Amino acid sequence: IPPPPLYYPSFPTGPQSPTQAKNESWSFPKDFWWGVAGAAYQVEGAAKDGGRGPSVWDVLSHRATDFVVNNHTADVTNNNYYMYKDDIARIAALGVKAYSLSLSWSRILPFGRGPVNEEAIAHYNDVINTCIEYNVIPMVTLYHWDTPLMLQDTYGGWLSEDIVNDFVEYARIAYGRFGDRVQHWFTVNEPIVFCQQYPFPEHYFKTFPIPDVHQQFHCGQSVLLAHSQAYRLGKKMMPDSMISYKNNGGYKIPLTNSTEDARAVQRAWDFNEGWFSDPIYLTGDYPASVKQYTSSFLRPFTTSEKQTIKGSADIYAHDAYTSQFYFAPEGGVDACINDPNNTAYPSCAATQYTYENGWLIGPAADPLSPWLHKATDWVPEFLQYIKTTWADPAGNLPLAVTEFGFAEPFEAQKVLLQDILYDPLRMSYYHDYMEAILIAISEGVNVVGCLAWSLYDNFEWGSGFAVKFGMQYVNFTDPKLPRYYKASFFEYKNAFDVYQEK
Ligand code: NOJ
Repeated sequence: IPPPPLYYPSFPTGPQSPTQAKNESWSFPKDFWWGVAGAAYQVEGAAKDGGRGPSVWDVLSHRATDFVVNNHTADVTNNNYYMYKDDIARIAALGVKAYSLSLSWSRILPFGRGPVNEEAIAHYNDVINTCIEYNVIPMVTLYHWDTPLMLQDTYGGWLSEDIVNDFVEYARIAYGRFGDRVQHWFTVNEPIVFCQQYPFPEHYFKTFPIPDVHQQFHCGQSVLLAHSQAYRLGKKMMPDSMISYKNNGGYKIPLTNSTEDARAVQRAWDFNEGWFSDPIYLTGDYPASVKQYTSSFLRPFTTSEKQTIKGSADIYAHDAYTSQFYFAPEGGVDACINDPNNTAYPSCAATQYTYENGWLIGPAADPLSPWLHKATDWVPEFLQYIKTTWADPAGNLPLAVTEFGFAEPFEAQKVLLQDILYDPLRMSYYHDYMEAILIAISEGVNVVGCLAWSLYDNFEWGSGFAVKFGMQYVNFTDPKLPRYYKASFFEYKNAFDVYQEK
């Protein structure tokens, strides 16, 4: 299969206004939360202010090894630590209902455990109170990848089950201090993503063993224990709360209709979504294929651990940006599973990425023209898949898309403000995605909310400021860091307004 064109040449029809296409049978339920999302390390800045302790990302972003594109760091980034009132006012001005933020663990507990930094508590109290004043629902994630450095140095962070206690104690503090006003909680953001970083040598910290592919599963084990215990504690402390973790992954489409590709797709579900969602929503334990792969190096969960893990979520929360093609590796899935030299490739399912930075609107049948395919081609099916596979068996749980978003190709190279603010591909993405959610709702999927990534351009991990997901532009070259709405933000709002049940 030849590679797809590198750049979609021109936007074919221009984004359609939702009003033009209004379908009378679609509607967002009255209490549907549409919102925007950010995360502490990516937006706060003030890395050394307010008593914050360092996290692993302070170290990673300061490595002089191009670990992050252009050696960008998030020392200042959006300066949201100081500008949060403006930020919340700007999103409230558009009528956004929910704002999803994460707490910096090492701001609250500079050493990861031990003394509480009251300045951080005061800060987050004000963030939460500001949301409430503006009638914006604060949704709080406890952990969005910024492990306190102290815990990394002491026992290797998530590689060790020692983190379970520390995480639960941190959760206890957060629930105790903010739980009177925050009802929506996410324990851990996208464990697949941060656990899969552990085996990479560039993530290596001298205090933990030489990277190897098994480490991601040790990390995953700690996550399941930490999440489930934090969930149980949260429900005791805040019986009316909604608590979940955030899973992630795209819709997996077999590249061909061969049986081998279908098997590869199933393994891809198992080793991605299923790795965390089977234990939490179905059985308290890993999918059979994951259990088999890990049996030689991972201890089995005890019966009581399984009981704690099973049912430890009130909602199915998923970050779903795009879809991918999966296919069997050369020689077939079995050959890969049985290959003793295959120590780097647990799922034995290969992916085809169709765009250079890995982000695309979503391929459907034709891998050669991914740009012509819309969220409506895969999101409804994807949400149906989640509903029937995990949410329904767990007791007809509601679903939420807790992140979706789009990095416009080459946006970072735009020069004129008027061009930067006109982002038709992202407009189209949000428009189509909202329609896709409406289709899913009309077909019986109980989607209760969606959160767009992101409220503004920010520090995109290894891509620094070079990849932009924002619905607001931030001029990072101006010390005042002014924010400007992009057209996509209005499109997102419009798509919601048109279909909100009155
Ligand atoms: C998901 C992550 O949670 C977020 O931190 C990241 O910036 C976005 N995906 C975009 O890559």
